[in-house]
Amino acid sequence: LARDAAVDDAPAGTARRRTTKVAVVGAGAVGSTMAYAALMRGAARTVALYDINKAKVEAEALDLGHGIQFMPMAEVVGSDDIAVCADADVVMVTAGAKQKPGQTRIDLAENTIALVRSMLPSLVEVAPDAVFVMVTNPVDIVTYAALKVSGLPPARLFGSGTVLDSSRLRYLVAHHTGVAVQNVHAYIAGEHGDTEFPLWTSASIGGVPLLEWRGSRSAGPLTPEVRESMTREVIDSAYRIIEGKGATNYAVALAGSRIIEAVLNDERRVLPVSSLLEDYHGIGDVCLSVPTVVGRGGAQRLLEVPLSDGELASLRHSADALRTVARRFGL
Ligand code: LAC
Repeated sequence: LARDAAVDDAPAGTARRRTTKVAVVGAGAVGSTMAYAALMRGAARTVALYDINKAKVEAEALDLGHGIQFMPMAEVVGSDDIAVCADADVVMVTAGAKQKPGQTRIDLAENTIALVRSMLPSLVEVAPDAVFVMVTNPVDIVTYAALKVSGLPPARLFGSGTVLDSSRLRYLVAHHTGVAVQNVHAYIAGEHGDTEFPLWTSASIGGVPLLEWRGSRSAGPLTPEVRESMTREVIDSAYRIIEGKGATNYAVALAGSRIIEAVLNDERRVLPVSSLLEDYHGIGDVCLSVPTVVGRGGAQRLLEVPLSDGELASLRHSADALRTVARRFGL
């Protein structure tokens, strides 16, 4: 039977429609896992992996491509040619030195700032309309440097910040309270690093403020000691995992995919991403994480959440620590 002339001859499932593309820069543990997470979650129609290591990036893309049958419809490509990132809607920058056991994220600053300075202009050239998300550590410093280098507006270039850390906190609170993690509304704010801190004042479960959580037979209330212990555990998480397996990759990749989906689907999702503060509770000229509405336009709106005196002091401490590092590297 003659086919309807209107049916194009594209392969099944690839009907021409507004396709969405995410480019992941860096095919290391984080980048390749992020590509995998985005594919498994059907976050984008095209996932492009870029790395200067040709053999590695082609192997990662081929290995992912062999699994396409088991994923939501998508295409995955990989190359050492930056043109593979062309016209991406979102660019996730994961390339950079790996944090070694005992190293802090700040210890990576010199290498990764240089990498951003060398790589970002070309990325902006091939993907001029993309939302850029820095994942490379120290992510707050890298985000600040990338904004300076690219000249992009703060909404269009931000960092993954404490999306991962907030997920770690929610994991601990959900475990302690016996409530689904999806119903734990709690954020880590500040630096994605040693000066981060929880926003307990605004945290809640099902509308019950966490500071008033009375607990149950199986688990007690969130006493100051329990909250302090959870905070410490969140801060120490990466060190502990790196000590054990050499790197963190799964949760940060899933956090990255969540950000990709919020942008590509214009979800207006509230996520604690790292972006440029401009008179946020009187704090400015620094990139760090606070709850932010993320949608097609990127980090569209910072929410000025109520802060206790202690939380405001912690935010200022985080900002001061990051500004000191930024100045040390001439930013
Ligand atoms: C971590 C890395 C991504 O916190 O900084 O696991």
